[in-house]
Amino acid sequence: MTIQENYSLRKHNTFGLDVTARRFVEYHTVEELQVFLQVRKSYGDATPLLHIGGGSNLLFLNDYEGTVLHSNIQTIDVTADEGDYVYVRVGAGVVWDDWVQYAVDSHWYGLENLSLIPGEVGASAVQNIGAYGTEAKDFILFVDTIDLETGKVRHFTAEECQYAYRHSIFKTELRGRYAVTHVHFRLSHSFRPNLDYGGLRQALAKKGIEEYNATSEQLRKTIIDIRREKLPDPTELGNAGSFFMNPIVSREVYERIAKDYPQVPFYEVDADRVKIPAGWMIEQCGWKGKAKGKAGVYEKQALVLVNLGHATGEDISDLCETIQADVEAKFGIKILPEVNFIRS
Ligand code: EPU
Repeated sequence: MTIQENYSLRKHNTFGLDVTARRFVEYHTVEELQVFLQVRKSYGDATPLLHIGGGSNLLFLNDYEGTVLHSNIQTIDVTADEGDYVYVRVGAGVVWDDWVQYAVDSHWYGLENLSLIPGEVGASAVQNIGAYGTEAKDFILFVDTIDLETGKVRHFTAEECQYAYRHSIFKTELRGRYAVTHVHFRLSHSFRPNLDYGGLRQALAKKGIEEYNATSEQLRKTIIDIRREKLPDPTELGNAGSFFMNPIVSREVYERIAKDYPQVPFYEVDADRVKIPAGWMIEQCGWKGKAKGKAGVYEKQALVLVNLGHATGEDISDLCETIQADVEAKFGIKILPEVNFIRS
């Protein structure tokens, strides 16, 4: 376990915000985390605790006046291999894309469409990360956690995690209560690519790859190329990927918008609801490639807010509010951030 005081979080948030944590604790095993929690209790330390992953979905609004916890649990263990499925328990501190690469190299299939998503495995089970028609929840069987109040282990089934689009119980009701230590995935030995998301088939065809001959490596590479083309590299331009969630609206609302904007893109959700891309609405409001002070809207994908250099969390939050107000005024829809705002 490493413990550091007044620690810079710059490398722990992909916006590259220059904030510090009063204390930063990194643990390598479940036992280390339990010892830390016990000692904290014995000292009667009641300062706030914040558990982070790769910091790819965080917006720090000020210095963190408490303890930031980070997992460095790096294990990948096969727990069972039966029929078409392999069951793998992955440590929360494993970098998400390293896990996807490991799975592809091992010929375990399913995660290809989630290639190059920034962040770590623990956070993937909190955020239910998703891309190109696939979500982490499609492969998560259960999640091991530690109760940060009692230090006790608790297992959550995928059902108990209440997964939905960019949502889990760890983001709402149980926010801040549990630290994910391991995630149990079920992957397949048969490759059944999910190519239904708009543009994916065309991207493969453009490379001369026939859909029915595509390999998982080729699919992963194609997804990586698409993401690199559309999304900024956080090491070059601070950002947190999609800043907003795509709003899910009733068909009535969609039809009202489609009357004025027949070209409005949408995804089917269920019989009554559709999802409208927030990036499209933000672009319609004229924000794509524009800036407010040191915070900007990425020129190739309006869903992504960027740190143009030395922005503060407040600068980005201010741009977020202005965009929300403009989208609401134009479309009558309140778009909500996917990014977690942290104020201590
Ligand atoms: N669009 C615009 N203008 C823009 C951005 C998008 O008109 O500036 C339109 C596109 O033309 C397209 C539609 O909106 O018709 C959807 O765009 P895109 O395929 O880029 O996906 P998205 O809905 O904007 C979501 C995820 C991304 C994920 C992509 C691909 C959310 C909040 N975001 O974005 O996730 O990579 O789909 O699956 O659901 C992330 O979470 O960080 C992230 C990047």
